Amino acid sequence: MDPERATYSDVILAHYRKEADEHGKDASSTMRDEITRGREIASVLRVLEFLNAGGAPVGSVLDIGCGNAYLLEVLRRHHPAAALTGLEYTPEMVELGRGRGVAACAIEQGDVRALPFADAAFDVVVTERCIINVMDRAHQAAALHEVARVLAPGGHYLCVEAFTDGLAELNLARGELGLAPNEMPYHNLWFDKPWFLETIARDFEVVDLSVHRDPTLPTPNFLSSHYFVSRVLYPAITRAPILYNTQLVKFFAFLPPMGNYAAIQFYLLRKR
Ligand SMILES: C[S@@+](CC[C@H](N)C(=O)[O-])C[C@H]1O[C@@H](n2cnc3c(N)ncnc32)[C@H](O)[C@@H]1O
Repeated sequence: MDPERATYSDVILAHYRKEADEHGKDASSTMRDEITRGREIASVLRVLEFLNAGGAPVGSVLDIGCGNAYLLEVLRRHHPAAALTGLEYTPEMVELGRGRGVAACAIEQGDVRALPFADAAFDVVVTERCIINVMDRAHQAAALHEVARVLAPGGHYLCVEAFTDGLAELNLARGELGLAPNEMPYHNLWFDKPWFLETIARDFEVVDLSVHRDPTLPTPNFLSSHYFVSRVLYPAITRAPILYNTQLVKFFAFLPPMGNYAAIQFYLLRKR
């Protein structure tokens, strides 16, 4: 592939085909860091439980950019009666997802920028590091608007995406300890926070879960302490390239989220 001429689809398909080939149906697919993966999943489950208990029953869920459908399988176990749907761009991931055989869960091939679903079709939409792959701000805005279009009024969007402010804070800390800055991956364009909040404002209101003072409910910085330990403290001690899932990092996993050191953040949005 000539990198000068590569299109969005060339870059994304090449990247995720390789991922599908190397990691198959494993939980490590697209995420090597077990604590990050575990917290993403636990946070999605906790918020769905919270919505169910608070009078916003989760009858139908769409997971966009569902990858190998790992999350959908977990959702099926916890929500046996919910209508589940996956949407995925990379055909090899679609195959893996379908091959998982999640009961009563259709997995469609498609693009978050033009969703093949009717208006107001779902109670809940989840994206777990999906829209950051759309490397164009106008197209990302179109994707966020598509998420809103397929949600019923009052429906919820669990947005687990990566933001540049978390990376900037992380790199300040790394710099203080003489570590080189971490960089955004070549196949991503992470959200700029003011841009994101302005873009979603026409379709969504942000649900502030911190008002409940319940540490089991995720806040946007839900991974912050874990990133500080795994991406600042650990490399500062070892002076070696990042190694995931180490004992030292797991030891500090009890810490509540503090600061704003993680790019991956969790926003709960309610459709207006
Ligand atoms: C970082 S992976 C995350 C996959 C899954 N959510 C998970 O957590 O394992 C991003 C996924 O989004 C998919 N994707 C990329 N661009 C997309 C698009 N325009 N529409 C739908 N899915 C897309 C990729 O193929 C990939 O499977």
